[in-house]
Amino acid sequence: MAKKLKTQYRCKECGAVSTRWSGRCHQCGAWESLVEEIEREENAVHRGKIGDLSVAPSVAGIMRLGDIDNADSPRIRTGSEEFDRVLGGGITPGSLILVGGDPGIGKSTLMLQMCAAIERFNPLYVTGEESLRQIKLRASRLPEPPESLMLLAETDIGVILPAIAGANTKIAVIDSIQTMYSQSVDSAPGGIVQVRECAAALMQLAKRNGIAIFVIGHVTKDGMIAGPKQLEHLVDAVLQFEGDKTYSYRILRAVKNRFGSTNEIGVFEMVEAGLREVPNPSEIFLAQRNREDSGSAIVATVEGTRPLLIEVQALVTPTGYSVPQRSATGFEYRRLQMILAVLEKRLGVDFRHQDVFVNIAGGISLNDPAMDLGVAAAIVSSLRDVPLDSTMVIIGEIGLSGEVRPVSAIDQRLAETQKLGFKSALLPASNAAKALRPKGLNLIPVERISLAFTQLFK
Ligand code: TYD
Ligand code: MG
Repeated sequence: MAKKLKTQYRCKECGAVSTRWSGRCHQCGAWESLVEEIEREENAVHRGKIGDLSVAPSVAGIMRLGDIDNADSPRIRTGSEEFDRVLGGGITPGSLILVGGDPGIGKSTLMLQMCAAIERFNPLYVTGEESLRQIKLRASRLPEPPESLMLLAETDIGVILPAIAGANTKIAVIDSIQTMYSQSVDSAPGGIVQVRECAAALMQLAKRNGIAIFVIGHVTKDGMIAGPKQLEHLVDAVLQFEGDKTYSYRILRAVKNRFGSTNEIGVFEMVEAGLREVPNPSEIFLAQRNREDSGSAIVATVEGTRPLLIEVQALVTPTGYSVPQRSATGFEYRRLQMILAVLEKRLGVDFRHQDVFVNIAGGISLNDPAMDLGVAAAIVSSLRDVPLDSTMVIIGEIGLSGEVRPVSAIDQRLAETQKLGFKSALLPASNAAKALRPKGLNLIPVERISLAFTQLFK
């Protein structure tokens, strides 16, 4: 029988499917976003349709709950504490993990170093982006190049799947998903259709053969991993590798993890010989600060289970424009606007003729509301050109009515504050009431930002 081809159209933006082409997606309204997708009939309907009782009955694959072995398959530890923590305690066999990040941030280096650390599990590195010589060159910069690492330069998923299955390996890396293609769908590599198809095939292989597969994906300019949301839903874990390329610090963040908690972070530094772990990030991030400058505040954030003290810098200057500028680097722009509005309304500070710039030191991005009060303090410190007490850490979320709201994990934040030798912590009153009191740390509870600012600028 001749193989029948089925044609449908899928939106590159939202993934909606329609049977006819049109200039505009009926779902999300994007223009020129529909791409043709051809599937062989045998692939498309290889299972019975709902309601079709002509399907032969079968019990294959059905199991009794009691017969299932629930002993966790042991995690594979890479020996890198930062990396293992983000994964929830090491690599889970049979999982599919997406590693996202901007081009040039260090994804290939991270994966190569992971392979080097687990050489005994015979990892396979599949490259569709770089030649084998380029990989060799990168590997030769590492302290201990993984000489026995298996490499495959290939982009056809139909060749890659059997190679992984036959390589007697527990771990494979695909660099990158955007370069991969499957002959079973008729569209260009890198498009949502190919990305999805290849990822689904890799997922099946991972599950069936118990092989952990890491898939590298470049983030598109709007911050989404290419082949947008669909890929995130499919995979077991999504790790994001972030950092400002002008700085050497990199943060690996679990934004999704079926085998561990999300928002766990690992901190690395990119040096001549690859990525180096940073086990004590607070110390490093605070090392470069200038204690006498105005516009600098130290905040205590928590990312996953990791407390992190970091410097917030603000610069407030009279504007030369009719509309004053606002800029936030490493901090959410909308939160900055909210903080400015609260300061104007509740404290009567006038920002109408001031440019305001806020920056998180070290080029990293953080999104913890507990930084609010510190950001507000840095802004007012710069506006008045009065430095803050450099031995104090500032903790608290700001509410719209000017209240200082409690934050999570206060004991971890205070413990880190004490560990790094700070003398005092300004914190929400309701947190202070319940917090363990670390020795030698003076706690200054505040209920409202007005009171906080009397304390800060007395
Ligand atoms: P790479 O891993 O190729 O990034 P990605 O795969 O995310 O595109 O890393 C690229 C950058 O890292 C490049 O600018 C060079 C730098 N780098 C170092 O500084 N030291 C090193 O040892 C290596 C391998 C790369
Ligand atoms: Mg790369």
